[in-house]
Amino acid sequence: MNEFQLLIDLHKHQPRQGPGGEAETRLAMQLAGLDRSRHLKIADIGCGTGASAIQLAKELDAEVVAVDFLGEFLAVLEERAKEYGVLERIRPMKCSMDALPFGEGEFDVIWSEGAVYNMGFENGVKAWKKFLKPGGKLMVSEITWLTDERPNDLQAYWDDVYPEIDTASAKIGVLERAGYRLTGYFCLQSDCWLNNYYEPLQKRFKPFLSQYKNSDEAKAIVAADEEEIALYKKYCSYYSYGFYVAEKI
Ligand SMILES: C[S@@+](CC[C@H](N)C(=O)[O-])C[C@H]1O[C@@H](n2cnc3c(N)ncnc32)[C@H](O)[C@@H]1O
Repeated sequence: MNEFQLLIDLHKHQPRQGPGGEAETRLAMQLAGLDRSRHLKIADIGCGTGASAIQLAKELDAEVVAVDFLGEFLAVLEERAKEYGVLERIRPMKCSMDALPFGEGEFDVIWSEGAVYNMGFENGVKAWKKFLKPGGKLMVSEITWLTDERPNDLQAYWDDVYPEIDTASAKIGVLERAGYRLTGYFCLQSDCWLNNYYEPLQKRFKPFLSQYKNSDEAKAIVAADEEEIALYKKYCSYYSYGFYVAEKI
């Protein structure tokens, strides 16, 4: 099994594939003024196994197009959506986020938690804008510096992994220049990283390693995740996911 397949297997039975939380998804809905008073068409881009897509379908009067480029994540999303009785309101779509087949002004809301970095924040928010109606809402979480200065080793790690990481003020500037108005912002607290993402993932390491007979590839994946977790625990006061709530002007 190649490294990519191993990564999929490690992550696909997790409650979510990145930091986040139900209360935070709900807070973002509130900051955007989304409620059940009107029917909404929503695209959830980079939806993974559906943590936010299913919540949106449950808590809003919405039709959710759930986009991911991994069919295996979408298959788990379908099973979960069925369990929650919301599958008829979710349309899984296997597609790359940089080649979306949507029409101009098709959506009331574009939602994307922990995924836009795959095409870069600036590219993503610019490219997706055309799919929103005027006044449509963009809700996007993105890795964000919490301070203006930070330790050199931390800077070097992120320069390597995702050089587009920046402060919230810089990200807000990107949104403004792209033709959005910011209507809300908050950053994820550590429970979203530790309780909701890293701890369930760490529980899976042992069975994962024994399933793959302690292969070098499996051990390398676990070691990289352990490094990421240790870095977060050491430096969580310097970075988090920022949740940006904006509307198309
Ligand atoms: C960090 S995970 C976040 C998943 C989910 N939003 C969550 O919060 O649990 C990023 C997701 O983006 C998806 N992804 C990565 N590159 C993609 C691309 N080019 N097009 C569509 N989805 C992509 C991955 O498969 C993964 O499900």
